[in-house]
Amino acid sequence: MSENENVTGVLEILHYPNPILKKQSEEVKVFDDELEDFVKKLFATMRSHDGVGLAAPQVGVLKKIAVIEYEEKSYVLINPKVVDQHGIQEGEEGCLSFPGLYANVTRPEWVKIETYDLHGEKTFIEANGYTARAFLHEMDHLNGKLFIDHLSSIKRNAIKKKAAKHTGGHF
Ligand code: NI
Repeated sequence: MSENENVTGVLEILHYPNPILKKQSEEVKVFDDELEDFVKKLFATMRSHDGVGLAAPQVGVLKKIAVIEYEEKSYVLINPKVVDQHGIQEGEEGCLSFPGLYANVTRPEWVKIETYDLHGEKTFIEANGYTARAFLHEMDHLNGKLFIDHLSSIKRNAIKKKAAKHTGGHF
């Protein structure tokens, strides 16, 4: 983790099509100071890019950890799982791994999530609207799924083309 870290604790964000973004993350089993330190860096990195959420794979760490910050509320998700959901919402979504690119994505309107806190205690969080969308987007990252995977192939290919231009066709 220290190799791509700068002095302020801000980590480098991987951009699509980096293959790490498509990989499955592993469960967190050890809840220690190192985990807490990493979560602080995720928040610092997310804030430095004005993001609403950031998942560990986006900084090259394949562990089930994500942070979300919206309307002055912060959330840490560790080994999160959707345990209930209802309704449907459609809205515009972006991703720090696809700078400047946005698309409409359909998601459930409300979710209940089982997650763990930094001390390894199981907790439940309920969210709706944009917060629910952010949770689901970040949880997708932990399973190697990206927001473009929710789009039709025509829309997905259009975004892939634009992403290739942003990165000069390589990463
Ligand atoms: Ni994202």
